[in-house]
Amino acid sequence: MTFPEVRMRRLRRTETLRRMRRETTLSRDDLILPLFVVEGQGVRESVASMPGVLRYSVDQVASEAKVIRDLGIPAVILFGIPAHKDATGRGADAQDGVVQRAVEAIKHSTPELCVITDVCLCEYTDHGHCGIIQDEEVQNDPSLERLAASAVSHANAGADIVAPSDMMDGRVAAIRAALDASGSEHVAILSYAAKFASAFYGPFRDAAESTPSFGDRRAYQMDPPNGREALREMRLDLEEGADALMVKPALPYLDILAAARANFEVPLAAYHVSGEYSMIHAAAERGWLDGPRAMEEALVSIKRAGADWILTYAAKEVAARLSP
Ligand code: PBG
Repeated sequence: MTFPEVRMRRLRRTETLRRMRRETTLSRDDLILPLFVVEGQGVRESVASMPGVLRYSVDQVASEAKVIRDLGIPAVILFGIPAHKDATGRGADAQDGVVQRAVEAIKHSTPELCVITDVCLCEYTDHGHCGIIQDEEVQNDPSLERLAASAVSHANAGADIVAPSDMMDGRVAAIRAALDASGSEHVAILSYAAKFASAFYGPFRDAAESTPSFGDRRAYQMDPPNGREALREMRLDLEEGADALMVKPALPYLDILAAARANFEVPLAAYHVSGEYSMIHAAAERGWLDGPRAMEEALVSIKRAGADWILTYAAKEVAARLSP
C-alpha cells in the first residue's frame, strides 16, 4: 500500500501523537558535563570562545558539583589546567595536582556524582603535545608510563572512571595493568578510542591552554576521512580492557557512532566537542538560529545514532529544560 491509503502525516498531527511516535528521547541520564579546573581560590572565569563555560578553582568546582547533581546530571569529566607546565607533564600525576584535588573535593561534597577524569599530558606539558617529545616527535612507549601514572593518581584521588584521550597505542592496556596493580581494579576505563584530529577542538585548546607549541596532533589522532580504521581502534581498545568507548567529535562522525553501535555491546560515549558547542552559540548570538532548539536537535541526533553517554558543555542548559 502507498499513497493515498498510506499517509505518514497522520501520526504527526498533534504534539501528543508526536510524543507517542517519538523513537528517541534525550534524558538527563545521558549527559556528562566537562569541567575545567584551574589553580587558585574563588576562581570562576569565563572562557571567551565558549559562551556559558567557566573555569573553576577547586573550592568552586566542589560547590558547582552540587548544582550539577541537583540538575540531575549523573557525571562530570574533569580537565586540569596546572599553574606550571614542563617537558614531561609532571603535573599530570602529582598527588596534589589540580585534578587530583578537584576529584577529592567533589567526592567529598557530592559523593553520588560520577567523576570521570581526562587522562592526557597535553594540559601539563610545556610543548602542549599529548606525550613525551624526542626529536620533535611524540614518543609512544615512553608516554605510556606517564599516562598510566596519571590514571593511577586520579584513581587514588577517588575517580570512578578514567578516560585516556592521548591516542597513544597500548595506553588502555598500560592503564588497566597499572590500575589493577595499585588496588584500583574497580575503576573503569572510558577510552577515547576513535578520536579524530579535528578542527572542532579549537575553543577547547583556548580553555585548556593546550595548543601545541609546534606541529599538530595528526601523527597520533585519527585522520578524519577514516571509518574502518576507527572500528579497528575501538576493537583494539576493547581487547586491551576498555569498559566503554568514545567517538569524538560527535556530529561529523555519526556514521562511526552508528557503526560502533552495530558492532559493540559496551556503553558508547560521544563527545559533542567545544567547536560543535560554540558554533551553535555563535550563530544563536547573531540571531541566525534558535540556540536551544539547535542544541537539543544536535544532542538527540547523537543519541539516535547510538550514543549511551553524551559529553557536552550544554549539559546544564539542556538538563534544566528536560523534565526529570
Ligand atoms: C586532550 C583533549 C582534547 C579534547 C578533549 N581532551 C583536545 C585535543 O585533543 O586537542 C577536546 C575537547 C573539546 O574540543 O571539547 N587531548
